[in-house]
Amino acid sequence: MAQEAKLVLSDNETSLPVTVGSEGEVGIDIGKLRAQTGAITLDPSFANSGACQSAITYIDGEKGILRYRGYDIAELAEKASFPEVCFLLIHGRLPTRVEREDYRERLTRHSLVHEDMKKFFEGFPPSAHPMAILSAMIASLSAYYTENGTPEEIELNIIRLLSKAKTLAAFSYKKSMGQPFIYPRNDLTYLQNFLYMMFAVPSEPYPVEEEVRSALEKLLILHADHEQNCSTTTVRTVGSSGANLFASVSAGVCALWGPLHGGANQAVIEMLEMIRKDGSNFQKYVDLTKDKDAEFKLMGFGHRVYKNFDPRALILKKSADEVLAKLGVDDPLLEIAKQLEEVALADPYFIERKLYPNVDFYSGVLYRAIGIPTNMFTVMFALGRLPGWIAHWLEQRNTPGARICRPRQIYTGETSRPWVALEDR
Ligand code: CMC
Repeated sequence: MAQEAKLVLSDNETSLPVTVGSEGEVGIDIGKLRAQTGAITLDPSFANSGACQSAITYIDGEKGILRYRGYDIAELAEKASFPEVCFLLIHGRLPTRVEREDYRERLTRHSLVHEDMKKFFEGFPPSAHPMAILSAMIASLSAYYTENGTPEEIELNIIRLLSKAKTLAAFSYKKSMGQPFIYPRNDLTYLQNFLYMMFAVPSEPYPVEEEVRSALEKLLILHADHEQNCSTTTVRTVGSSGANLFASVSAGVCALWGPLHGGANQAVIEMLEMIRKDGSNFQKYVDLTKDKDAEFKLMGFGHRVYKNFDPRALILKKSADEVLAKLGVDDPLLEIAKQLEEVALADPYFIERKLYPNVDFYSGVLYRAIGIPTNMFTVMFALGRLPGWIAHWLEQRNTPGARICRPRQIYTGETSRPWVALEDR
């Protein structure tokens, strides 16, 4: 028998249907609540509200489980390529051998950006944050590639976005360095191409180091989707108005930029540097988080969903040890991060609040080891999250009966009052 929930409001009892997901998650369907009772639910920050049903990513925050389309994140990080994960998230299944090759080929062929777009870069100051450039450039793609709404054209725009975003990201770095743009090469794979466009210069050959490629591949796979996080919710919300793919994803880039979300990876490195310069007094900084007036948080710690461990952080911590050793990089910040983690995890404040390192805690050390500059860290997160945003944009658009996202509010302002003439104020 279908479950239902009962709500009693001012002596009136209302029945609400219950929806159960494929992993047993229970949701009380309040779609008709206002019509039945006149009331709405109030859940600032949406900590208890499901905004959609989704078949893309499953997280069990208590058990530390993360699966894309049913596949465990640890297995994907070890065995998949990033383009394969893009296909998986967007199409819902792993590509066949032929589809995998075809996808790779298409992702390579669409890497060039319109020559006119290069002029946009001239307008930005050299100090511009690459996230500002990336969001503007992704929105600008809609000026070049319009959308008539057919599945074929949407599919083509998805390929264009996945291919060109990495070119735009690399160009934004070249702009900040004052170096010439390096064009993509069709003989290179997706990530080799990105590294080549980032680090090659016309005056000498740039062989892409395999260790670097493989470390980056794992990082991007780990970032590829995370169900209804702030930026993905933004993409779905913007998409719900009928906005095109590029406009919706550009909004997602902006949402990701904030230090509580993807911007945390840059903030972690800045924090670790600060702690190192200040004599590595870890307890001092752990204690500082308890002082509400100090408004200081350990960046890279805590998560809305994970309350035991973040499986991505575990993989990245191990990967940081391996990659730094293989590349022969001795980064004092890795040791600082490990010691800070140890002190924080033993502290009652962190234990009571179930605060653990999240994906951003060790990712910055890895990006540094493979030569990515600090202000590009969040851009790397964005490149990784692209397939997730695209998959959610598409799912939202293809949901039968989907309506524009438009939350309600409880108004707390002034009640009706008469206009006051200027001379009486
Ligand atoms: N350091 C110290 N205290 C913390 C931290 C932290 N990093 N995170 C949460 N707390 C405290 C918080 O002050 C609150 O304490 P109290 O109950 O005394 O008021 C308690 O833990 C619960 O935290 P919350 O702020 O209610 O948690 P939230 O779910 O609203 O926020 C978060 C989640 C990730 C925004 C937050 O943990 C945070 O700001 N962390 C630092 C920034 C960060 O690393 N962000 C990356 C998130 S993972 C990648 C991504 O998805 O973007």
